[in-house]
Amino acid sequence: MAFQKGKTTELEIIDLAFGGMGIAKPDGFPIFVDRTLPGDKVRVRITRKKKNYAEGGLLELIESSPLRQKAPCSYAGNCGGCRWQALPYSEQLKYKKQHVIDSLEHIGLLKGILVKDVIPSENIFGFRNKMEFSCSDRRWLSPEELANIEIKKDFGLGLHVPGTFDKIIDIEKCLIQPDIGNQILNDIRIYIKESGLPAYNFKSHEGFWRFVMLRNSAAFGTWMVNIVTKQENDNILTPLAHKLMNKYPQITSVINNITSKKASISVGEYEKVIAGENSIKEKLGDFTFEISANSFFQTNTKGAETLYSLVSKYADLSGSEHVLDLYSGTGTIPIWLSKDAKQVTGIEIVESAVQDANKNAALNSIQNCSFHVGDIKDVLPSIHKQCDVMIIDPPRVGMHKDVVEQVIALAPKKIVYVSCNPATLARDISMLQSQYKVVEVQPVDMFPHTFHIESVALLELV
Ligand SMILES: C[S@@+](CC[C@H](N)C(=O)[O-])C[C@H]1O[C@@H](n2cnc3c(N)ncnc32)[C@H](O)[C@@H]1O
Repeated sequence: MAFQKGKTTELEIIDLAFGGMGIAKPDGFPIFVDRTLPGDKVRVRITRKKKNYAEGGLLELIESSPLRQKAPCSYAGNCGGCRWQALPYSEQLKYKKQHVIDSLEHIGLLKGILVKDVIPSENIFGFRNKMEFSCSDRRWLSPEELANIEIKKDFGLGLHVPGTFDKIIDIEKCLIQPDIGNQILNDIRIYIKESGLPAYNFKSHEGFWRFVMLRNSAAFGTWMVNIVTKQENDNILTPLAHKLMNKYPQITSVINNITSKKASISVGEYEKVIAGENSIKEKLGDFTFEISANSFFQTNTKGAETLYSLVSKYADLSGSEHVLDLYSGTGTIPIWLSKDAKQVTGIEIVESAVQDANKNAALNSIQNCSFHVGDIKDVLPSIHKQCDVMIIDPPRVGMHKDVVEQVIALAPKKIVYVSCNPATLARDISMLQSQYKVVEVQPVDMFPHTFHIESVALLELV
């Protein structure tokens, strides 16, 4: 049969799936092909065959979709960061809205919910306030780079080829961060290469340099550089910090996270301040926030303001309400809502984020916010708080089912559910639907050129 693994076939792409891949449906059988757009005619090799679907690797674009545009970024064809750059932004928004509707209908079995048009991101380039680049002693080369014998394979600092843990594209210019971040990144690259210390090897787990994380403040134009290494080495990192801070007065903080763990995450087992501050300041609306290297903070600052304004609008507070904010991060939503509520209580698992939240409340002279550290499912039953309005902003995996039960038991009159994953949004609100009716869902785009979409759902107790 034509769709067996290893076979090549010609397909017409008819839609985009949640997850970002194009879909063809020859004889009704779904085949997912990465980096394709509806209207493309393509030749693919089947790379995976399951009972109900297959996946294909793109071999040739036989005929280009009329939707296709030239991607502004030269890495876009290979990099895992922005897989939808060849799709005009207005089209990206249409597909994102449809994915929210499809998730609600197919995963949550929720029909007829009002899903509004996506609120676009104010900036579609230079909008990210945090980027994380991986170091590798093996650089992945694109077919064009392979043809250039001058290019060495022994070092890469950049982003992953999608779906791979060890293929690092050496990135000199990433368009979704402000351009000064690229200059800082390139100076760090030169320093690392000349340091004499090896970059990490993802298979042997040897090597000193692991990640370079850059955070910036949209409001103040300042930068934090966080270098993640396998061991401490102040003799190498202090001169790097001084070099960077002398050249870029915008850099106010150089941090070193140290981790010998094999897991490919940039959070260290511990961290050291190499130079400057231990956090970076950012402003959202009238409020100032201090964010440490490992705390969660929305990555699109302007988008975060849009998102939180929507949360305020849906919460519609009069000043007398007790608000519970589950998954409160660095306290941004409680602080944003504080002037309209009687009391706001946040719960968050990451201790440093809760420390930041307390500092942030003090920094903004806010006295009606308090924060609890711990896993929501353990903390929520013990805090016995009155709750008129609940805000829920979980990570991609959504809520633990025990938490859903605890929320139903607390029975807040209103829930504002903020979600970065339509699939878990659909699952969670379908579990709440015995007690809550969904008034509407407003998607907000925080992640241009990716399939990701943030949504805010307003739920009312029935
Ligand atoms: C999507 S972020 C939202 C943060 C915040 N609302 C904001 O807008 O910045 C999710 C947060 O949930 C926290 N988290 C994840 N699992 C948790 C759990 N089981 N209990 C408490 N917090 C958790 C994460 O550390 C992260 O700060």
